[in-house]
Amino acid sequence: MYVIGGRASTSLAERISRELGNAPFAIPFCKRFPDGELYVRVGGQLEGEDVVLVQSTRSDQDILELLLLQDAIRQAGANRLWVVVPYFGYSRQDRMFYPGEPVSARALARHVELEADAIVTVDLHSELNHQAFHKPLFEASGIPPIARLLRERPVDYLVSPDKGSIDRARRMGEILGRPWVGLQKKRVDSEHVEIVALPDAPDFHGKHVVIVDDVISTGGTIVEASKLLRQRGANFVTAACTHGLFLRDAFERIKAVADEILSTDTLENPAEKASVAPDVSEILRRGLGSAAS
Ligand code: R5P
Repeated sequence: MYVIGGRASTSLAERISRELGNAPFAIPFCKRFPDGELYVRVGGQLEGEDVVLVQSTRSDQDILELLLLQDAIRQAGANRLWVVVPYFGYSRQDRMFYPGEPVSARALARHVELEADAIVTVDLHSELNHQAFHKPLFEASGIPPIARLLRERPVDYLVSPDKGSIDRARRMGEILGRPWVGLQKKRVDSEHVEIVALPDAPDFHGKHVVIVDDVISTGGTIVEASKLLRQRGANFVTAACTHGLFLRDAFERIKAVADEILSTDTLENPAEKASVAPDVSEILRRGLGSAAS
């Protein structure tokens, strides 16, 4: 079995290969032609091998690289091709919000699954995303890796900044044996949100609170949630997410209001302190059987 890491996920792919008992690991050769087109080439003897390709799709370039690598791996005669997309870009456009829009998550899923026997991902944005796939889809969670980091810490509350993440806060609360609380978010526009506490919110005075979200993008949600928790007396605020995009100055803005920022390694960023490699590898071991053990 081979593990191949695209440029968006090289470090995570290497961690996965180690988790799979040092499975052969390869980094493809990539370059740009003078006209800007992308060129990729995979090495190794892939004929008849099961191949795990790891590539997050943060940018459109990452998507193109993924599709070209899938084709190259098929051309090389691989047996089964399992595609790991740790961060599945476009998953937030999981429905048509206004007439004339695409369901971008579905469009991307269709193309990725064309040349894949199965897809593995981490914390898809919503349940709706699952319907976009017709091939076997396996989803790891970013919650256990972050919970492993927080296990020995004196955490008082897990806080969801909005309705969408309440299950994540609950799951982490259950793992850590701590209570979880939901806040309410109103999105003003793509960069601004308002966050308020629900009437039954507990007293946060002197407490260590961990805000749990799937994605930190512009940082607006976490910044507003942190400010609210501070106003309500929290004395230590941890901002935790599965996918850390940290656009523009998001990291600095969050650091100004939160004491700590944690993310998993689905995307390379300065806060990636928890790895999803053990969780993804467990899925691969179960799916690929002896080839991955
Ligand atoms: C929204 O539904 C997501 O769960 C995140 O809360 C959101 O994507 C975070 O975006 P931002 O960092 O731009 O506020």
